[in-house]
Amino acid sequence: MNREGSKKLYERALKVLPGGVNSPVRAFRSVGGTPVFMESGQGCHVTDVDGNRYLDFCNSWGPLICGHRHPDIVSAIQSQLERSLTLGIPTESEVKLAEFILNGFRTNLPSIQKIRFVSSGTEAVMSAVRLARGFTGRNKIIKFDGCYHGHSDALLVKAGSGLATAGIPDSSGVPAAMTSDIIVLPLDDEDAVKQAFKDHGNNIAGIILEPVPANNGLLLQRPEYLQFLRDITREHGSLLIFDEVIIGFRLAFGGAAEYLGIEPDLITYGKIIGGGMPVGAFAGRDDIFKLLAPDGPVYQAGTLSGNPVAMEAGLAQMRLLTPDLYTNLEANRKRIQDAFNAKSYEFKMTGIASIFWFHRGEAPRTSASIDRDSMKTYAALFHHCLDQGIYMAPSGYEVGFLSSAMTDQDLDQFLDTVFAFFDKM
Ligand SMILES: Cc1ncc(COP(=O)(O)O)c(C=O)c1O
Repeated sequence: MNREGSKKLYERALKVLPGGVNSPVRAFRSVGGTPVFMESGQGCHVTDVDGNRYLDFCNSWGPLICGHRHPDIVSAIQSQLERSLTLGIPTESEVKLAEFILNGFRTNLPSIQKIRFVSSGTEAVMSAVRLARGFTGRNKIIKFDGCYHGHSDALLVKAGSGLATAGIPDSSGVPAAMTSDIIVLPLDDEDAVKQAFKDHGNNIAGIILEPVPANNGLLLQRPEYLQFLRDITREHGSLLIFDEVIIGFRLAFGGAAEYLGIEPDLITYGKIIGGGMPVGAFAGRDDIFKLLAPDGPVYQAGTLSGNPVAMEAGLAQMRLLTPDLYTNLEANRKRIQDAFNAKSYEFKMTGIASIFWFHRGEAPRTSASIDRDSMKTYAALFHHCLDQGIYMAPSGYEVGFLSSAMTDQDLDQFLDTVFAFFDKM
């Protein structure tokens, strides 16, 4: 496959962008080779600058649950372009999106009553943590080893896949003081959490985790463990913060609460909520949000927050998230997972909703038990797929996303390509 155009663009990019990219995992450091520069995306395909077409399982790292350029989203954006790009003054678009989301939560998330829009997942999480601290008047936050919650200073400790890929345990440039109130614990370990509450109980503002950790492998947690986290935070007057930047609107409209039956105090969103535009959000109870500026003393703001183009894209996206969409996506994922796992390969596929992940051996529940050595095989699989016209995330620590634009034929193409790789191994 000729990718000369990508190579030339990468050379140019290296001269002006650090590492040639604007987000580290895009640089192919984990899989080797030259990043592919894309020209366009339509449905479940992306086309690179050399005209090669790929079936896309990256889906912009999760936002594109309906594939690229869904006509409803494109037309919502086009109509908004006739009105404004940004105003920095309230618009109906942000009210409509908030109403649509919160009304949709009525059954499964009755205590999620207010939402604030921001422009990225990082901002959403950073702000939710600040609000949890402001609400409880406590400083300490429990996070879990290997879990990534965006790149705000305080949370860049023992964080996820991009860092695992680059081999950086923590980020340089983050003063120790910024992370001194973060307690890092292993996932899947009730005793570690109990001990932390014994040691710091009345100073723990909250626990933050992805209820389905999907940013450093797919580390499916035991439901009773998640329930335990819900119970222990309640018992100690701490908040449970679900980071649903990836899994929000991916598992179900009501997220983990609907899918797993556990309701947190605060939820953070990103990715799908913007329908492909840069949007994040954090949401929670009224009494917690009373503390947020301008109503309360916890400051948070943003020039482009609630941007009307992004809000209209988000609203069009939300309207597409029907129960049928989730049922079909889940059935498609189960089909490829069952077909893959029916083979007796060393690698297995783990999945939930429309997310899947390849791993060697048993499905890990903690980041420490991810088989680092298996990443070499993933790199070879990645390049095999790329050369056959399939784009997966360029790191074995990252998950794959199905979109509703994929047909049975697309999924068969994926399976045949993956089987051809593992059959030869
Ligand atoms: C769980 C989780 N939280 C937060 C973030 C940060 O989101 P963003 O990249 O939009 O800043 C990510 C990004 O992948 C994420 O996966």
